[in-house]
Amino acid sequence: MCGIVGYIGRRDVAPLLLEGLQRLEYRGYDSAGVVISGKSGDLRTVKAKGRVRELESRIPKRFAGTTGIAHTRWATHGAPSDENAHPHLDTAGTVAVVHNGIIDNASELRAKLTADGVVFASETDTEVLAHLIGRSDAETLEKRVSEALRAVEGTYGIAVMHKEFPDRIVVARNGSPVVLGIGEKEMFVASDVAALVTHTRQVVTLGDGEMATLKADDFRTYTTEGSLTTATPTTVEWEAESYDMGGHDTYMHKEIVEQVEAVDRVLRGRIDDRFATVHLGGLNLDPGEARRVRRIKILGCGTSYHAGQIGAQLIEELARIPADAEPASEFRYRNPVVDPDTLYVAVSQSGETYDVLAAVQELKRKGARVLGIVNVVGSAIAREADGGTYVHAGPEVCVVSTKCFTNTVVAFALLALHLGRIRDLSVADGKRIIEGLRRLPGQIDEILKTEPEIKQLAKQYADARSMLFIGRVRGYPVAREASLKLKEVSYIHAEAYPASELKHGPLALIEPAMPTVAIVPDDDLLEKNRAALEEIKARSGRILAVAHQPQEKADHTIVVPKNEDELDPILMGIPLQLFAYHTALALGRDIDKPRNLAKSVTVE
Ligand code: G6P
Repeated sequence: MCGIVGYIGRRDVAPLLLEGLQRLEYRGYDSAGVVISGKSGDLRTVKAKGRVRELESRIPKRFAGTTGIAHTRWATHGAPSDENAHPHLDTAGTVAVVHNGIIDNASELRAKLTADGVVFASETDTEVLAHLIGRSDAETLEKRVSEALRAVEGTYGIAVMHKEFPDRIVVARNGSPVVLGIGEKEMFVASDVAALVTHTRQVVTLGDGEMATLKADDFRTYTTEGSLTTATPTTVEWEAESYDMGGHDTYMHKEIVEQVEAVDRVLRGRIDDRFATVHLGGLNLDPGEARRVRRIKILGCGTSYHAGQIGAQLIEELARIPADAEPASEFRYRNPVVDPDTLYVAVSQSGETYDVLAAVQELKRKGARVLGIVNVVGSAIAREADGGTYVHAGPEVCVVSTKCFTNTVVAFALLALHLGRIRDLSVADGKRIIEGLRRLPGQIDEILKTEPEIKQLAKQYADARSMLFIGRVRGYPVAREASLKLKEVSYIHAEAYPASELKHGPLALIEPAMPTVAIVPDDDLLEKNRAALEEIKARSGRILAVAHQPQEKADHTIVVPKNEDELDPILMGIPLQLFAYHTALALGRDIDKPRNLAKSVTVE
């Protein structure tokens, strides 16, 4: 979604801002813009619909300055256009604002300002803020900004420059991420550390309701009411290089391949062989509390929700605690019963997905205990949760999630094992699962070696207009995630169904032009799954099976290595990530930035 980058220091600002915007491109956007404070102190803006390179081509030769802010916009209020691209200025051109989020009462404020004679230059909600700040006559820029923010309702991460206050950038956060980058006599701001890490790894993440003033050699943070807050910079662990493509043609491919080391990382240092369990330091849940948990409710969106569905099964199987997963976006709108004996688990790669964050905040308001299973350290959900665990997948840049999905499921396996071993999972089963977990990286490597074969299969199925994905119990969430992956990157319609429900509807769809991808693990449901393949074959359906042994009724089988039954879902989805990738490649899709999608959805 929208991205913000800002800089104040001594260096020529335009190239720095453009580079920062490029690092945020992965989040998805439709237009971009930049404003700098020129030599005369004037605010100079350039905006462009389309890609950052389009913006770059419009930057004049002489565009020197050492302070500036820039933005990539994802249209919400008003279509993608030059006019609607940020930054937005007030009528006199003294204030420039870039904004992520949505101002809910924008139309009301717009009507009031229009009645007062303000002429709007765009259709955006953000422009309201520029006029409100521009019309304030409070003494300091900080007060002008906080005064304007008091008038708005909604979510925001903003950065503001003002002609009369050329020595500073003022930023504020409510619901949309803002990270300060602390340099040597220079300061950065961004909505995502990805835009900062090439320059500094010292960062301060703003909390909701917090503001900050950045000057070239100094910064301070405070509340919207003006009381100072303490902000201790932390060091970002991710290397700048991990944001590069590292010789791959796409981030998606790089991230699929990285799963061998990513899974190794989530396991590292956590296994306790002596007691056949794992240590998860950050859970903040003592054994007594863990034993009192009667139910576990997992909340997430998109791929993280699917990871949560596998997580729920792992928890039920290993810890015997009733568990289920629900889209956070649904949960928060149905006035759920919040039960004190239920442990809530929020799952998010970015840690910033608005619906998940809002669900966590609502749960906490009602006194629930919430754990976070999150990838981005220090993100809003990680901070808001009472405890949790990081999944250590490393930065994930491709819009569609692959390695983070796998690591999240492994993190759930660790949580399930931990809970199981303080309840009634036996030592023998604990050991069995630990051994299974240890085998994962090597088995992922084996799966990756079958890529040439999967590439060929993808070419054969790429002409399908629609595909059905089926799985039973453990295989069903795998089918759902594989179907999501295919539709996200290839734009082929795909639908996932429990194999057990075939007769109740989807069988009507079966014909040669409607291939079925079937998840067929070698477990106690193998015969039932085989029966489903027979039913499809009897109706001339084409079948691609993912199984532990070649399936007679399938036209093709991708054979994956067998692990413990409970852990098989972790491996069975991986060939289908490659399948989605190669299908999209065969169809010439924009793999890392599928149309209409964003990496992290920080608005409702
Ligand atoms: C967006 C992305 C998905 C992602 C979902 C949840 O829809 O396109 O790939 O799964 O958000 O994101 P999160 O960061 O909370 O895991």
